[in-house]
Amino acid sequence: MSRLLVTGGAGFIGSNFVHHVVENTDDHVTVLDALTYAGNRESLAGLPEDRVAFVHGDITDAPLVDELFANADAVVHYAAESHNDNSLHDPRPFLDTNIIGTYTLLEAARRHDTRLHHISTDEVYGDLELDDPDRFTESTPYNPSSPYSSTKAGSDLLVRAWVRSFGLRATISNCSNNYGPYQHVEKFIPRQITNVIRGIRPKLYGAGENVRDWIHADDHSSAVLTILDKGVNGETYLIGADGEKNNKDVVELILTLMGQPADAYEHVTDRAGHDLRYAIDSTKLRTELGWSPSYGDFESGLSATIDWYRANEGWWAPSKDATEAFYAGKGQ
Ligand code: NAD
Ligand code: DAU
Repeated sequence: MSRLLVTGGAGFIGSNFVHHVVENTDDHVTVLDALTYAGNRESLAGLPEDRVAFVHGDITDAPLVDELFANADAVVHYAAESHNDNSLHDPRPFLDTNIIGTYTLLEAARRHDTRLHHISTDEVYGDLELDDPDRFTESTPYNPSSPYSSTKAGSDLLVRAWVRSFGLRATISNCSNNYGPYQHVEKFIPRQITNVIRGIRPKLYGAGENVRDWIHADDHSSAVLTILDKGVNGETYLIGADGEKNNKDVVELILTLMGQPADAYEHVTDRAGHDLRYAIDSTKLRTELGWSPSYGDFESGLSATIDWYRANEGWWAPSKDATEAFYAGKGQ
């Protein structure tokens, strides 16, 4: 039995990981989460109190972080400002949480010699042409585009520096776009599903040719647990499930699965600096650590996600109006 500290465990992917740990290990989990607009304690509802503790606090709070690291065998670091559109509107919280917050954790890990796994994104590599035969690998040079992805890239480089300079026991994973239940309605797939439920036409940025490499959040969690168990300190692992799709196809599939005409959506103002394509080659994780995804079929995973949003309006409705007001102010 290990004592895990999970930062950002009330967010979309962090809460999925906490459920996954409780279901698949004997570990005890302490969640550290600031409950920003993106955090929701309801995402952790139903978990046994003797297995999961919740601490409401900020990863930039060094004394609190130090106390929690003193009582943890390993830390999995999900907490971040995570949305590109927000980072284009107000970058400052991204610097505070993604850079200073990660630095605060690294210093505590150094003091306590704590094993740390840092969660990151494929966006640190920039984007690919639509017809590029290559995908991102662990050796692709960093080339981030947005305030969000540049702060995630900065946090990755801090982790690498602490490994090299101070011998920190740390691993990094860079994952592609996640989908599944409990994702905030600001993100592409839940925004369109909840738009259709509300009778609003889905909104596609630009022409909708941009490609994302979709992975179910459950598969992200199983990959992170695998890296925590078997990953080699100092190494980076890319996580992906060969799920490339362009945004237009995804919107049309959502509409069809929800019983609407496939063309019942609107083109809206494109995102500034919009990355064209992400694509992950996860060969290293599969061959060296033996991981493989369990969701082979995007359509059935998406269909189950639609069912979840239909059945859980009480979870997402409180955020919906403010999210749409934010987008409306930008012509999106
Ligand atoms: P999210 O926005 O849903 O959740 C972020 C969580 O972090 C929230 O619970 C929030 O309250 C918490 N948080 C934010 N600032 C904090 C702070 N200063 N102190 C403590 N807690 C704080 O994000 P997500 O989509 O679940 O992403 C989680 C991690 O995974 C991020 O590091 C993100 O970069 C990475 N990631 C996300 C995706 C994706 O598709 N969503 C893909 C790859 C990597
Ligand atoms: O690749 C991993 C990244 O995936 C993570 O690091 C980020 O935290 C996560 O938010 C996600 O970033 P994206 O910017 O790719 O995700 P988002 O859901 O914001 O948008 C997905 C695509 O859909 C993108 O091409 C923009 C487009 N889009 C988005 C919204 C919200 C639309 O066309 N319409 C929309 O309304």
